[in-house]
Order: sequence, then structure tokens, then C-alpha cells
Amino acid sequence: MKTKTLKDFDVKGKRVIVRVDFNVPHKGETITDDNRIMAALPTINWLTERGAKVILLSHLGKIKTEEDKVKNDMAVVAKRLAEVQAAPVVFVPETRGEALEAAVAAMEDGSIVLMQNTRYEPGETKNDPELGAYWASLGDLFIEDAFGSVHRAHASTVGIPTHLPHGAGFLVEKELEVLGGALENPKRPFVAILGGAKVSDKIGVIENLLKTADKVLIGGGMAYTFAAAEGGKIGTSLLEADKEELAKEFIEKGAGKLYLPVDTVVANDFDNPGDIHTVKSGEIPDGYMGLDIGDGTIEAFKKALEGAKTVFWNGPMGVFEKPEFAKGTIEICKALAELDDATTIIGGGDSASAAKNLGYAEKFSHISTGGGASLEFMEGKSLPGVAVLEEE
Ligand code: 3PG
Repeated sequence: MKTKTLKDFDVKGKRVIVRVDFNVPHKGETITDDNRIMAALPTINWLTERGAKVILLSHLGKIKTEEDKVKNDMAVVAKRLAEVQAAPVVFVPETRGEALEAAVAAMEDGSIVLMQNTRYEPGETKNDPELGAYWASLGDLFIEDAFGSVHRAHASTVGIPTHLPHGAGFLVEKELEVLGGALENPKRPFVAILGGAKVSDKIGVIENLLKTADKVLIGGGMAYTFAAAEGGKIGTSLLEADKEELAKEFIEKGAGKLYLPVDTVVANDFDNPGDIHTVKSGEIPDGYMGLDIGDGTIEAFKKALEGAKTVFWNGPMGVFEKPEFAKGTIEICKALAELDDATTIIGGGDSASAAKNLGYAEKFSHISTGGGASLEFMEGKSLPGVAVLEEE
């Protein structure tokens, strides 16, 4: 069965459960990046404008203790949602029971109920069948619009749709179209840029992109494990010793495709860097650590990007939170923003924040709302929250 989308359903007067990803960064009462809320609005508005009763479910943060619950109360999201949303929003601070059921029963067509954090329920992350069935009993239809969560087989992402007619919201539809297009039928040359701290986080994606992309550029902390695998000296830089063999394999498999840094910015101390200079890759002096790609690498990467028609970028090139080590990430971000006639995709997470903080967000074709989800998608994995939508 082909995945249905919003427009396949007559939603007037129906109770539509929408799984959104409102897992937004927040400090106390303040949301520091509301992108995920804004990204869900097209689906929510489409539904309310057509007279649906919209029941929103999302997780917020990771919940292990009572303190986590207090920190991750969905009330903070409800407040922001009401500000950016024309339809009335009722927040129910419960995840089951009379108050929730009464709020749903009282809904007018075109109104919204936002439920408390799904992870207040211990059964959520275990995909407890009773919980999925209970939540499903509140609605007539299920729409998956939480792209950031489709890699999780949880009660709210996988449990509910096994009981209700279901389809994808506009956000999930767009993410699958853009990321799927890059994987299955990219305009070539297709260049992938992968950064971030650890090889272990990116194994699957490097493996898959070495097969599908024309070039794979590696930066960030994980590049030092590759340098060590080539027998280089990496000083006190990040090293995953147990991944050196794997890095060697990637270097062999990726011959001609894999681009590693040729130089690196090093410092003698992470917190109080006094002596900062650039050395060749694999020649980091003892007591120094690599914290960004160097100018030679920036130039080499820019050259590798020339003429690219599809680019997927995930992970910063260095410790970009510190201005002294942000140049590599900034220059790569700029180079992508300036590419002509190319589909440029940022796979969520830190690189998405970097593009936004640097003011380049508008210059990209697509910034994924999924960090882990977009990476797993680019690994070529079947994502449970997407797979379930393909079932009757
Ligand atoms: C994310 O932020 O990547 C998603 O909301 C998923 O969150 P999780 O890693 O806590 O499941």
C-alpha cells in the first residue's frame, strides 16, 4: 500500500490525532528554538481550516525521574503554540483519564487539544500495546507529522496507527520526498559532508553514503580517528580507538570518494586555548588537540563541492560553539549556501543550528527537523514510524 497523506482523507468533524515532534529546546518557560512548532503548522492549519478536531501528541525531552517531568512539562509548548496558532488551543496536563477524555469530547470542529508529554507514560517508549490502543480510542484518524521521531517505535508513533486509518502529514511527506530523493535519485554530483564528534554515531551513514554519493567529505572530531587509522599523530585529539579498524576499512572502500582533512587547527587547551595554530593532518604535536579543519581543508572541500547538484550535510567541522574553532563550519556553510542550482540538505542537529545561527538557513533547500531520524533515513534503514504508515 502507498502511504496515504492528509489530502486523501475527509477530515471534517473527525477527531484527528496528530503525532507532532514538539521536542524543542527550552530553558524554563522559554523555548530557545521553535522551528519544530512552526514546521508542524501547515498540517495543523490544514486540518483546523477543514473542520477537524485536532488532538496533538508529542514527547518533550527524556523522562527518567519526577524532576525530568517538571522540566519537560508540555505547558511551555502549549503557550507558544497558542501564540502562533489562530485556532483555540486547549492544553490538557494529563496523558490519560477523565480530564483528557472530557476535553476531547467537548472539542468543536476546527479546535485543538494538546496533550501532556507522551513520555510521562512509561509505556510510551516501550510501545505498550494497551497505551497505543487507549490513545487510539480518542481519535478517528491518525496523522504522523513527527519526522524527528519516526525512528522510534513508540506507542505514539507506531502503536496508535495500528488501530486507526493513518497517513503522513505535510512535514513528514516533505522530509521523505527530499531525503528520499537525495538517496534514491540524486542529481549528480552528489556530495555528502559528515562531521561531528564520533565515528560510532556515523558508521551506518558513512557506509551507505559511500555507496550512493559521489564524494564523502569527513570533518569534525571523527576525522582524528581516521587520521590515527592512517598512522598519523593526533596528540590529545578525540580518538575512538576501537573504531580505527573500521576507519581503515572506510578509507580503503572509499578510495577516490572519501575526502579527509589535510590540515587541522590545534590548541594546547580546550577550555583556555592559549596557543592556537594550524598543522598538517596526522602531525599534531604531543599535548595539542585538533579542534577545527584548517584553511587547506576548507579550500580542498570547497573545490570538492564545485558543481555539486545535491549536497547532504550533517555535523559541524569543528567545535563551532567556540569562535576560535568555528571557521571551518562557517566556511563550509557559506560554500553550500552559495552553490548554484543545487539541492542542499542539512540533516538536522548541530549543523542545522549552525546554519540558523549564522543566518544562512534561508539559503538551504531543506533543513531537516529530524536529527537521529534523518541520519537513520540516510543510512537506508527502514524507520518504524514510516513503515507503519505503509501498512493497511
Ligand atoms: C529528536 O530530538 O531527535 C527527536 O525529538 C527524538 O528525540 P529522542 O532522541 O529523545 O527520541
